[in-house]
Amino acid sequence: MLSNIFFLLFLTLTVQARKWIVPGALWYDTTGAKIDAHGAGMWKVCSTYYLTGSSYASSMQPRTYSSTDLTNWVNRGIQFPIPNMFRPKMFYTGDRYWIFGQVNRTVQSLWSHTPIGGWHNGTDMLDPHNSTTNFGITDQGVFADTDGKVYYLASADHNNLQVNIIRPNGTVGEIIGDISGAYEAPGCFKVDGTYFIVTSNKTAYAPNPDKVFWATDLHGPWNGPQDIAPESTNTYNSQNTYDLVVEGSERTTYVYTGDEWTIEGDPRSNYVWLPMSVDGTNVTLQYHPIWRVDVRTGEISTPEPGRWYKAPRASPCNSPVTFTNVKGTGAMRWVSFYYTVSDPTAGDAQISINGAAAANISTYNSRAGYSEVVPVGLKLKRGRNSIEVSCTGYSNFTVSLKGIEVHDDY
Ligand SMILES: *[C@@H]1O[C@H](CO)[C@@H](O)[C@H](O)[C@H]1NC(C)=O
Ligand SMILES: *[C@@H]1O[C@H](CO)[C@@H](O)[C@H](O)[C@H]1NC(C)=O
Ligand SMILES: *[C@@H]1O[C@H](CO)[C@@H](O)[C@H](O)[C@H]1NC(C)=O
Ligand SMILES: *[C@@H]1O[C@H](CO)[C@@H](O)[C@H](O)[C@H]1NC(C)=O
Ligand SMILES: *[C@@H]1O[C@H](CO)[C@@H](O)[C@H](O)[C@H]1NC(C)=O
Ligand SMILES: *[C@@H]1O[C@H](CO)[C@@H](O)[C@H](O)[C@H]1NC(C)=O
Ligand SMILES: *[C@@H]1O[C@H](CO)[C@@H](O)[C@H](O)[C@H]1NC(C)=O
Ligand SMILES: *[C@@H]1O[C@H](CO)[C@@H](O)[C@H](O)[C@H]1NC(C)=O
Repeated sequence: MLSNIFFLLFLTLTVQARKWIVPGALWYDTTGAKIDAHGAGMWKVCSTYYLTGSSYASSMQPRTYSSTDLTNWVNRGIQFPIPNMFRPKMFYTGDRYWIFGQVNRTVQSLWSHTPIGGWHNGTDMLDPHNSTTNFGITDQGVFADTDGKVYYLASADHNNLQVNIIRPNGTVGEIIGDISGAYEAPGCFKVDGTYFIVTSNKTAYAPNPDKVFWATDLHGPWNGPQDIAPESTNTYNSQNTYDLVVEGSERTTYVYTGDEWTIEGDPRSNYVWLPMSVDGTNVTLQYHPIWRVDVRTGEISTPEPGRWYKAPRASPCNSPVTFTNVKGTGAMRWVSFYYTVSDPTAGDAQISINGAAAANISTYNSRAGYSEVVPVGLKLKRGRNSIEVSCTGYSNFTVSLKGIEVHDDY
């Protein structure tokens, strides 16, 4: 226990705490390693959030992180040695914690008396369907209602998104509601008396415009679908995985959490988390390049404007554009690049700091198409820095750079 405390203290002292959520940016845990929990879900115990997802760097075994502020996450390790577990979701029902994950197109349960460690294999591969229909399932979700009852959201292979009861003994019970169509990756949240299901189309690892359905009863009838973001953004380049309710002292904030998959679906995939506005039955993602939610009050904030450096030229493609005398402190900070690209698939914009390659922002380039602001976490040395933006790509790849905004914090 004491060594744990020293260990945590050590982490706090050596790794810079992170203040902001930056959709699509690299997200590191408290040791500085890239967070590796894809298709994840969240479960809150007292004031701790547990994020359990599929570790794409470790054979897709279930990995859990914990946090008390939703921005700084401690890696709590692989929870059970079971490979190829997709979209694991941790929750509590009956007298124990459960992780339900998709293995071989059916659901495998794990259980434990604590949220971290002590996991046991569930006795069987649970089939959420009856023996007559016997559908396989893909890209599942879990929803806990305000009355404590828990539901399994199965996006069935046969193009029927189903709401199933999860019994207190951790088995999947009957189907109580369904939505017909080719949907997957469902999440559900409740606002007053209305249930919302956020779900994506089935386009493998390519993003698509995710939809929302709504009903006043989980049995349905389900209304919708409606887009949750402007269609052309493909859900800001992401796919739903879990929809979080942050009930604060001042307000309740609904948070969409999604995966920004690489097209290969590999460990380089990032995360897009955004607050949702809910106006009647109109649910829309509120895009902020940099934001946070205060878990105590539920309030959302965005950073103060940073220091602005205007680009001396718009195009970094024939020769690099250099920003000189950029002030740093030796700590990490968010630097927002204001630029647009002609075609995100046709090239890469790149960044170097003081002559050393710092980041490829290629995976961020698609974002430049719709928000024009791409924040990148960079360490600038104390004093003056030189930031250079260059570009490589096909001849039709053009970049129009306005400038950079250097924020004070990270
Ligand atoms: C999943 O299927 C593969 C290949 O059929 C098999 O090797 C593996 O043991 C199965 N995994 C589980 C958890 O049943
Ligand atoms: C867990 O159960 C699954 C299916 O019942 C089985 O394939 C797998 O080998 C078990 N894993 C362990 C570590 O017991
Ligand atoms: C199983 O599914 C079939 C086909 O939908 C249905 O007729 C039957 O009533 C179901 N059985 C149970 C036990 O739910
Ligand atoms: C779980 O509960 C259901 C309904 O009460 C029962 O039919 C089933 O046998 C139980 N399964 C296990 C594994 O305890
Ligand atoms: C999913 O996307 C495909 C291709 O864009 C489209 O044809 C189909 O209608 C969509 N399915 C649903 C259920 O929206
Ligand atoms: C839904 O909300 C968004 C954002 O607040 C707004 O732009 C849009 O017009 C609304 N749609 C409807 C149908 O009210
Ligand atoms: C950027 O991408 C290029 C080409 O894929 C690669 O050679 C280079 O190492 C990358 N740079 C950084 C800083 O990741
Ligand atoms: C740019 O060029 C590439 C390679 O020739 C091509 O695949 C892409 O479609 C072009 N983009 C546009 C917007 O014309």
